[in-house]
Amino acid sequence: MNRDLLGIRQLSTDQITDLLRRSDGYFLQLNSIDPFRKSSLLDGRTVANLFFENSTRTKTSFELAEKRLGATSVNLSMQTSSLTKGESLIDTVNVICAMKVDCVVVRHSSSGVPQLLRKHLPDHIRIINAGDGGHEHPTQALLDAATLQAKLGSLKNKKIVIIGDILHSRVARSNMILLNKLGAKVTLVSPLTLTPKYVEEIFGVRVVHELADEIKDASAVISLRIQFERQSRSLFPNLSDFRMRYGLTPLRIMETNAFILHPGPVNRGVELDNEAADSEKSLILQQVKRGVAIRMAVFEWLFEDK
Ligand code: NCD
Repeated sequence: MNRDLLGIRQLSTDQITDLLRRSDGYFLQLNSIDPFRKSSLLDGRTVANLFFENSTRTKTSFELAEKRLGATSVNLSMQTSSLTKGESLIDTVNVICAMKVDCVVVRHSSSGVPQLLRKHLPDHIRIINAGDGGHEHPTQALLDAATLQAKLGSLKNKKIVIIGDILHSRVARSNMILLNKLGAKVTLVSPLTLTPKYVEEIFGVRVVHELADEIKDASAVISLRIQFERQSRSLFPNLSDFRMRYGLTPLRIMETNAFILHPGPVNRGVELDNEAADSEKSLILQQVKRGVAIRMAVFEWLFEDK
């Protein structure tokens, strides 16, 4: 059976646990002081990274994972693609496929592009969603869970607070689904204008609009970037007001033992002050390390013979 990773929603709890376990093995290898021995898992395989939206860490992380597993990678970014010359997404993808590609990693500003590709690409080509619009970002949620589990053990009944621009965040969506499947208790803290409608009912989370004491008894806080590029009008008064109400300021982090996560890129001085981003409680660089391990685990899972 051929597999894809289009979203967290499609994964069972067992599959998530399995992916996290596989990634732990890769993480240990990557974290060891011995030089990493390239694996031959993806020998002879070609992976196309189609990034139609800017990305630094996700793209680099996928490329590293591919190289460490022995794949041949080709990169197509928006700026260099024929899309700027008016070629349709499907045309571009057909061209890439004619080059005998085994896997497509896609990031796009429109929700649903990975699903659209699934309909148009031959079955044997695996698809990984590297972030589609405001919809899902499955590898980010997996790496966040791996980072959290490494510190907290089982996430069952652990209070995880997600703060900020939930409305535009695919990271928040994938995280809500995944954390729910692992039994965590998720609280969202966001301005009313940056909170999706019916999010409590759809995702089974708790929603509040004031930070107040919410993080004091939390096991971890996932702070989100304000996604200006996805906002067509102003949804909060100004950045300093946002920081005062929702930012992780030095005072706020002194009041909690919660670990701090952020998918990056961080708007320092808005959602996170330097004291939070660089504190001992910050797991931001752990997330980056876990990211490569998770992506290696995802490739292993996608390409294992079934
Ligand atoms: C996130 C993304 O692009 O969705 N970043 C990432 O993948 N590291 C979050 C963001 O852009 O704020």
